[in-house]
Amino acid sequence: MEAEAAALAADPVRAEEVRRAAKVCQCKAVDLGSIEDAIRAHGLTTVEGVREHTNASGGCGACSIRIEDILAAMPPAPAAALPLAAE
Ligand code: FES
Repeated sequence: MEAEAAALAADPVRAEEVRRAAKVCQCKAVDLGSIEDAIRAHGLTTVEGVREHTNASGGCGACSIRIEDILAAMPPAPAAALPLAAE
């Protein structure tokens, strides 16, 4: 276990792959990376939105709390460009 942790610490790309591959929803076999990608791609802000785009939380619902935590940890989507006021 320590050797694996040390190997991941020495290889940030592999560490990110392992982090993203972590299963969040066991019922629908949805991993963290898929959820993060859907949140970014679609500007999702709710568990329902994540379910609609990934199917996560579409079974027993036990992962809903974890999805809420993921949503809370994601940086806010960039604001839409606002037109500049005429001077
Ligand atoms: S673990 Fe996600 S719906 Fe059951």
